[in-house]
Amino acid sequence: MDRIRIRGGSALNGTIPVSGAKNAALPLMIASLLTDDTLTLENVPHLADVEQLIRILGNHGVDYSVNGRRENQGKSYARTIHFNARSIVDTTAPYELVSKMRASFWVIGPLLARMGEARVSLPGGCAIGTRPVDLFIEGLRALGTEIDIEGGYVVARAKKGLKGAHYKFPKTSVGATHVLMMAASLADGETVLKNAAREPEVVNLAECLNAMGAKISGAGSPTIVIEGVPTLSGARHRVIPDRIETGTYALAVAMAGGDVLLEGARTDLLESALASLGRTGAEVTQTNAGIRVRRNGSGIAPVDVTTEPFPGFPTDLQAQFMALMTRAKGQSRITETIFENRFMHVQELARLGARISLDGQTAVVEGVDSLKGAPVMATDLRASVSLVIAGLAAEGETLINRVYHLDRGFERLEEKLSACGAEIERISA
Ligand code: UD1
Repeated sequence: MDRIRIRGGSALNGTIPVSGAKNAALPLMIASLLTDDTLTLENVPHLADVEQLIRILGNHGVDYSVNGRRENQGKSYARTIHFNARSIVDTTAPYELVSKMRASFWVIGPLLARMGEARVSLPGGCAIGTRPVDLFIEGLRALGTEIDIEGGYVVARAKKGLKGAHYKFPKTSVGATHVLMMAASLADGETVLKNAAREPEVVNLAECLNAMGAKISGAGSPTIVIEGVPTLSGARHRVIPDRIETGTYALAVAMAGGDVLLEGARTDLLESALASLGRTGAEVTQTNAGIRVRRNGSGIAPVDVTTEPFPGFPTDLQAQFMALMTRAKGQSRITETIFENRFMHVQELARLGARISLDGQTAVVEGVDSLKGAPVMATDLRASVSLVIAGLAAEGETLINRVYHLDRGFERLEEKLSACGAEIERISA
């Protein structure tokens, strides 16, 4: 298994190209199941999760071809991928595939809308909590789906097609919003979704569906209105820049010090996180080329954050922000409201010398003057990158094990950081 070795203490200076967003690419790829025409996606990041979803879609009969491996004068590996689901050969998504990547459960929406049936494995537990699927089931039932749970599978049937309906999510869910938006696009009549997720990835998906002929308005607000259409066509659509990758590198610069341009990044995708970062003492500016982050000499001020659905502080940056706060001049409180059990990084950060105590949903972080390198273990995608950030500022060597978590969501992380002066390398097993 690959490991990452970091020798801390170097400032970051230079340019980091921001990749296409994993969390936008995945639902967009799944949307290809809605049409027998070709859906072309630009700026698709090269990540383990994307490759896994390509395999899952292939199982349903989706063909794909890739081109444009090197865009932006060779600085990015962004790809353009053509997906074609002319014939859907299988409406079952098996446990072996769904259990590897939770987002693959989302195929339930398009399969049901287009084929009138879907049999999708329950995703099971995962490292950051139980993550149930009750909202998907309730929402799809509201659209006229008969749903049974049989042998660990959600068996969904709508033989006469889906019917538009009014549905209010009892809790905001990004995935359930994606799925209901896709399903309602091919339903008969109007669907109104209330308390919908407002994340930029929801807007990106709605824009793609509209380019395919759907009639969706209100995405990005809590109320989304979808006028069903009989069929959707192909389209060409661009994946938005990854706001979590952006925030992660911005926090890395604040931690290590230096001056970095996050090329292609957009402040409007993560205003809340950038505002918190600014309060720590880092300078953040939007330029024509992207976001510039600087911290030179000044200490890191402690800042409290609470994770919330968009436009609040994202849960996917909580671990990285905590890493920065381990070196702050004073105490900060970090509260997680989206996922239970999303504090596995606390113990690993403690191995580097961080002082963190847990008080229910809140981590209380006492900033320390220095961290010291140590071997640590990545436990999930965002937790593992928080260890990279901590390692950049730790004295000596930090060795991060189980790097496959990083590869699920960060494209060429060690290459991007070392180009800015970090001493970081991958040790292949
Ligand atoms: C997406 C993101 C993930 C991010 C999360 C929250 C992708 C691929 N993943 O995950 O990176 O951390 O949004 O911003 O885009 N819930 C229920 N019942 C359900 C569905 C969800 O109770 O049926 C709960 C979840 O357990 C969680 C909360 O709702 O507590 C939010 O989860 P949700 O927004 O659905 O997360 P994902 O879409 O899985």
